[in-house]
Amino acid sequence: MKGGGALVNMQPAAGKQQAPKPKASSLFLYILLLYILLPVLVLYVVALAVSPFYSHPCPPDDSAVARVAAAAADGKRPNRNDDGRSSSPSPSAASVVTLLPPKASDAEPTGLRHIVFGIGASSSLWASRREYIRVWWRPGEMRGFVWLDKPVPEVWNASSTGLPGIKISANTSRFPYTHGAGSRSALRITRIVSESFRLGLPGARWFVMGDDDTVFFPDNLVDVLSRYDHTQPYYVGNPSESHIQNLIFSYGMAFGGGGFAISRAAAEQLARMQDGCIQRYPALYGSDDRVHACMSELGVPLTRHLGFHQCDLWGDVLGLLGAHPVTPLVTLHHLDFLQPVFPTVKSRTRALRRLFEGPVALDPAAVAQQAVCYDAGKEWTVSVSWGFAVVVVRGVLSPREMETPMRTFLNWYRRADYTAYAFNTRPVARQPCQRPQVYYMRQSRLDRRRNTTVTEYERHRVPPTPCRWRIPDPAALLDRVVVLKKLDPGLWKRAPRRNCCRVVSSPTKGKDRRMTIDVGVCREGEFARV
Ligand SMILES: *[C@@H]1O[C@H](CO)[C@@H](O)[C@H](O)[C@H]1NC(C)=O
Ligand SMILES: *[C@@H]1O[C@H](CO)[C@@H](O)[C@H](O)[C@H]1NC(C)=O
Ligand SMILES: *[C@@H]1O[C@H](CO)[C@@H](O)[C@H](O)[C@H]1NC(C)=O
Repeated sequence: MKGGGALVNMQPAAGKQQAPKPKASSLFLYILLLYILLPVLVLYVVALAVSPFYSHPCPPDDSAVARVAAAAADGKRPNRNDDGRSSSPSPSAASVVTLLPPKASDAEPTGLRHIVFGIGASSSLWASRREYIRVWWRPGEMRGFVWLDKPVPEVWNASSTGLPGIKISANTSRFPYTHGAGSRSALRITRIVSESFRLGLPGARWFVMGDDDTVFFPDNLVDVLSRYDHTQPYYVGNPSESHIQNLIFSYGMAFGGGGFAISRAAAEQLARMQDGCIQRYPALYGSDDRVHACMSELGVPLTRHLGFHQCDLWGDVLGLLGAHPVTPLVTLHHLDFLQPVFPTVKSRTRALRRLFEGPVALDPAAVAQQAVCYDAGKEWTVSVSWGFAVVVVRGVLSPREMETPMRTFLNWYRRADYTAYAFNTRPVARQPCQRPQVYYMRQSRLDRRRNTTVTEYERHRVPPTPCRWRIPDPAALLDRVVVLKKLDPGLWKRAPRRNCCRVVSSPTKGKDRRMTIDVGVCREGEFARV
């Protein structure tokens, strides 16, 4: 919408800087231009410098008019009335409007209701994959659609409670697809962005794409997106954990399974050019490459956010979630390829539900946020990943070691070694005595009187590892960890900082095999000192 207003405003600028046509009564106009319009123009050019439309400085009048006419003819564009700038009555009025704060409807904070989800799914896997969507989808609070290749029974009946509505993607057989190993479904999935945009849902600020096996943490997604201005073109996401994948695709590409978000301003531009753009890249593999290629044509770079997880990994996600970056956890993906997040729960979706019904409901911002502290008496290192797991290790391991993910997983290219990750990793243990004891979250509740979350973690029983250290074995003394943490909805309003933790009580031999840990904002002067 911004384009319409900006281009209308180009006209006086262009007229001014190209030789104006001489006319008898033009002296008065010259004075008017110089002393009244010039300051406005200068102000406007400054405003323009921070806008993406600066890339067409002063086009000739006719092309500007043509563009405005084309924009006006595009009757499909939604939210026309939402946006004052597209219906500005006159050029000079519009240039003033551009400098004013956005309209009230755009000024209120971004919420779930401003997001339109577009889930790429296939009818063949729908029956199983829909269970992942049920875990995070909140009917009535969220908008969006699952886009399928062909109808499934739910399309025709209402049994799909707890799920987004279903749409069938438009026919894409006219588009070329020449990649030898990929699937043509990439074409219809890449078009979900423009098909969603063309639905014209009122108040849509962000178009968020994901796969049918992408699990979103909705509150954290809102937190991340509300940091950006949706009236500017943004492409927010994250590349893969696998360096090799990023070499094959791009470090500048948002991997589709990890989910990505396109602001309304970017979606509008993409929707206008995507079909032509798809024609220009027949040899690409996937749907996300194609979005990336079109974003590159538009010149909109990836805004990387570490909370989107493509999870190009096999095995146990403990390493990644146990040492999550100090940033909100936004998505997980490829859960069919990973063990259940809680290994004692055999069903992947039930394990996720334990996470969502407990910690995610209590304090979503804090989920999987790490805190590192030490049980000085026993010489144990304790690392809490809130709501997920607590790891206890013999010996004093530094925070810089503990905040490096353990390689509990394998690379997407299974035979690749540790150099093939796009982030630092460390071995699970550098020697057998340092094998961590892992305590997985079992239950959680809110102590309303103290406004404190109480999460309990239970030891994951594994065969003992022989060790002759004098430092006691956590497995021999400790079965349960209780973590107390005050609610902290303002966590991400502050500068990113890892929480501090304190060992409040620790088991003594033979008695009360339980440890209590307090987690929260670091106090004045407090830090994780080794
Ligand atoms: C409605 O959808 C469910 C779920 O796929 C299916 O099992 C059921 O047979 C459908 N009912 C009818 C009447 O089509
Ligand atoms: C898609 O369009 C092509 C021709 O453009 C047609 O042959 C084909 O049957 C269509 N597919 C579907 C599912 O409608
Ligand atoms: C509990 O925490 C919430 C959120 O921070 C706050 O709004 C509320 O006033 C607190 N209640 C008490 C009793 O401290």
